[in-house]
Amino acid sequence: MNENALSKLLTEMTIEEKVGQCVQLSGDYYEVSGEITGPKSNEDVSETQINNVGSVLGVFGSDVCRKIQKSHLENSRLSIPLLFMADIVHGCNTIFPVPIGLGSSFNPSLAYESSKVAAYEGRQQGIHVTFAPMLDLAVDARWGRNMETSSEDPKLNAVFAKEYVHGFQQDGLNNKNTMASCIKHFAAYGMVQAGREYNTVDLSRRFLMQSHLPSYQSGVDAGAKMAMTAFNTYDSRPCTGNKSLLDDLLRKQMGFDGVIISDWGAVKELINHQVAADNYDASVQSFNATCDIDMMSNCYNTELIDAVKNGGVDEALLDEAVMRILKLKAELGLFEDPYNQINDEVALLSSESKEVALQAAQESIVLLKNEQVLPLRDNRVALFGPMSNSGDLMGPWSWHGNENDVETNKHCFIRNDEKIKFVEYSPAFNISAFKDVDTVIFSGGENSFESGESNSKVDINLNQSQIDTIKKLKQIGKKIIFINYSGRPTVLTEVEPYCDAIIQAWFPGTMASQALYNIIFGKYNPSARLSMTFPRHGGQCPISYLEYQTGRPKEQGVDDYVSKYIDCENTPLYKFGHGLNYNNSEITNINYSSDYISEKENIKIDVDITNNSEFSGDEVLMVFINDVVSGLIRPMKELIHFDKFMVEDKHTYSFEITLDDLKYVDQDNNRLIEPGVVELFIGLDSNNLVQKNIEVR
Ligand code: BGC
Repeated sequence: MNENALSKLLTEMTIEEKVGQCVQLSGDYYEVSGEITGPKSNEDVSETQINNVGSVLGVFGSDVCRKIQKSHLENSRLSIPLLFMADIVHGCNTIFPVPIGLGSSFNPSLAYESSKVAAYEGRQQGIHVTFAPMLDLAVDARWGRNMETSSEDPKLNAVFAKEYVHGFQQDGLNNKNTMASCIKHFAAYGMVQAGREYNTVDLSRRFLMQSHLPSYQSGVDAGAKMAMTAFNTYDSRPCTGNKSLLDDLLRKQMGFDGVIISDWGAVKELINHQVAADNYDASVQSFNATCDIDMMSNCYNTELIDAVKNGGVDEALLDEAVMRILKLKAELGLFEDPYNQINDEVALLSSESKEVALQAAQESIVLLKNEQVLPLRDNRVALFGPMSNSGDLMGPWSWHGNENDVETNKHCFIRNDEKIKFVEYSPAFNISAFKDVDTVIFSGGENSFESGESNSKVDINLNQSQIDTIKKLKQIGKKIIFINYSGRPTVLTEVEPYCDAIIQAWFPGTMASQALYNIIFGKYNPSARLSMTFPRHGGQCPISYLEYQTGRPKEQGVDDYVSKYIDCENTPLYKFGHGLNYNNSEITNINYSSDYISEKENIKIDVDITNNSEFSGDEVLMVFINDVVSGLIRPMKELIHFDKFMVEDKHTYSFEITLDDLKYVDQDNNRLIEPGVVELFIGLDSNNLVQKNIEVR
């Protein structure tokens, strides 16, 4: 349907029908048999209102979506098709690593490939819009939703944002197995105070622009069709009712022209935030802030008609919102064919999809420590630990993944090598079970219910019984390979000395076990780098590598009255960008085309890398800067460039840096850098960086 036809449709709609487009209900209001039977869980929603509704969330499956759509079209006066939306975050049926894991791959093409598969599987099962990617920069390991972000770094987040959106949407939504992407949560949800879910955010405008907006901007520039508001406040107003954030910043300044949806129930939550007196007030504030769709609070449904009739909301604004929603439906081809792309025969978990999932899992798993034990060559190995026989390896937000499709570590490892001994996990184990093995692969960490939405924690230590078990195994002389599953950085300080190798698995998804087997037994050379900092102690949170120098740095050599803890180091246990592999590649030479940089002159850099081992493998090259003197404070290290590439024996990697790469954002959102010295750091691991000073002219 073209724009003229949409405008004509708009003129035919009553206010009630227009408001209906701005209301999203869950599947609870529809019988899964396909009949709309009127109100189910909420007395306030009449059958007529249900028939006017514009979108539904959380229902899934070709059959279900087809039936609901059919019934809706029969019952709504103008037969405007419904939009079906769902959280297809890191895979639909084929599950990929949780986004924080995928971020650790430092390989953005995996974000593209995995969301392409997710869109393929999701769209054919009825879903038009996915509530993904989540683009909130996260810095606090206590927050449960770290698993949904790509990283703590603005650059990495921005690069991944673009690939996710392109992967989901490809080059169009009509007649393609693609889904519209809804970037979320605008804005700065990752900065909730004390890492506590749904908490207040207090962040300066400049830090918002410098560190948090790049990922959202990248999602907008990539053409994301929708954006979701955050539950939190920004600048003392809940984001959902925050006109300066949604209308002035996101739409006008950042150029977003799609549909904005509230997060679940967030319109009504304006009342809890104590900035709205009642549902009416909450609706008027949110709608006037240009939040087009109310997800599940039912406020727009009950209040917006009155608001338009008595002038609280201008009907022209309602028309704009409805037009945005209708346009999205048109782009998805729903007016021509409301069942467009629904397919009962969709090939789920195809071998190609699983191949992408395996690659993504392998590239996401970070080797944190390796005291010459990996890859394993001896076969006197036991597999043990609370996660060793579990299918819970997909992580949170994998609603449509099925544990039955996930091979456990036990099944996979023994299928690959029947000599591996499996010992049933119990913290009260009998040491005689391990008498004929030298090495224990301990599969532990967090289960998937310990992170994700509403799963913030104050204690992010590895659980004590796992620590004690590992210690006991070490005391009887076993080599320990510890696989740590988690959706957040956890504190491994106490267990670290007892482990010969530590593998940060995150939640690797459907192909978790094969990926881990391949890494442990040297079939894949690990290549991931940490996308988030691992603190030594939970009390260091929030902590990120983007640290700023203080007026009293600890490094000044004096002990007292400097910025430090009296009971813990300042440094983390494992830094952002840390990750080991099996080849001892090193940078043997770097050639810089110049010592200075200006608007007109870039610097071309050639990095020679030599691999001194029998293993070839992917390397991640990272470039950080430190601006020695600048008008505003800048981090001591800031990632400006990264890439991943294969190194067989020798490789020269060439790239250019421009003046723009070095710039920062000032309080007025101008990008600038003053003349002076910038330290450039180049390395394959953030612990081992080669420094070169360059002059900005
Ligand atoms: C979450 C969103 C999600 C929505 C719909 C909310 O609770 O914060 O990220 O997309 O629910 O499921």
